Amino acid sequence: MPALATAVVALAPRAPRGARPPRTTKTITSRDGVRCEVSQLAEPPARLRFSMDADAARAVIEPAFDEDSRQRCMSGDFTPALSAEDIAAARAMSPGQTEFALTYGELTYEGCTRLGEILAMGPDDVFYDLGSGLGRATIQAHLQWGVKRAVGVELSAERSAQARRAVERLEQNGQLDHSRRLDLVCANLLDGGYQEATAVYLCCCCWDSTFVAQALEVLEKRAVNLRQIVTIEPLDRKFGLRPAWLTLKLETRVGQTWAPEGYPCYVYEVTR
Ligand SMILES: C[S@@+](CC[C@H](N)C(=O)[O-])C[C@H]1O[C@@H](n2cnc3c(N)ncnc32)[C@H](O)[C@@H]1O
Repeated sequence: MPALATAVVALAPRAPRGARPPRTTKTITSRDGVRCEVSQLAEPPARLRFSMDADAARAVIEPAFDEDSRQRCMSGDFTPALSAEDIAAARAMSPGQTEFALTYGELTYEGCTRLGEILAMGPDDVFYDLGSGLGRATIQAHLQWGVKRAVGVELSAERSAQARRAVERLEQNGQLDHSRRLDLVCANLLDGGYQEATAVYLCCCCWDSTFVAQALEVLEKRAVNLRQIVTIEPLDRKFGLRPAWLTLKLETRVGQTWAPEGYPCYVYEVTR
């Protein structure tokens, strides 16, 4: 990945490090009717904290994608079908997973904008999208959230190649910020280092409990600077996982291509 220059995003000032944001306690009810009390940060203000809104992000990023991998909001695996070779190579790289784990869907531009607001992302943050697909959220984190480093890790070589083609086009158009890093890696997410990561997104709706437990174990051991993990399924109710080092901070919804109006999203604070 070449070094990237020219700032395209001017960020709103963020709260000084160490300042404790206000918390509230509220009762949340999951889709399956389970109620529980959570202490959560007050929802970020509705006002956009980034200088670029979702439409502006879409206008910059979307033309960089191949015609057949343009974002479409619908259910199911709507991206170009992976070849049998790519599926076999992906499964060889992560033998514990089934083909179902390769199912596709992604954050909408609005959903990703909201996610950046919820996580209060800014220039001190290193964001990892683990299972980054075509890389839209990683690219948006770079361009819109203005994070120090955005990294996407994707198992499918074909999706990774499409993501890298989009980044190359953005680079050719001078639309990337060379003062910050943007990396799209083809790898099994269990093999990463994550020392720098401050926030990690796990789009884990098609992964099984064993794999999610392994991913959390990797993050607990290696992501020493991690402050927040976002999942789109509740770790306890969906996977039976209650990691002692994570505290549910917020349950909210962000737009996904299969649910543009909002799909649940769980923000866990690292409390070790
Ligand atoms: C539902 S998509 C999420 C896309 C992306 N996070 C977004 O929101 O724009 C999940 C992705 O995880 C990838 N994946 C599954 N298992 C993986 C693994 N072990 N390592 C890296 N990526 C994986 C799949 O190939 C798929 O592209």
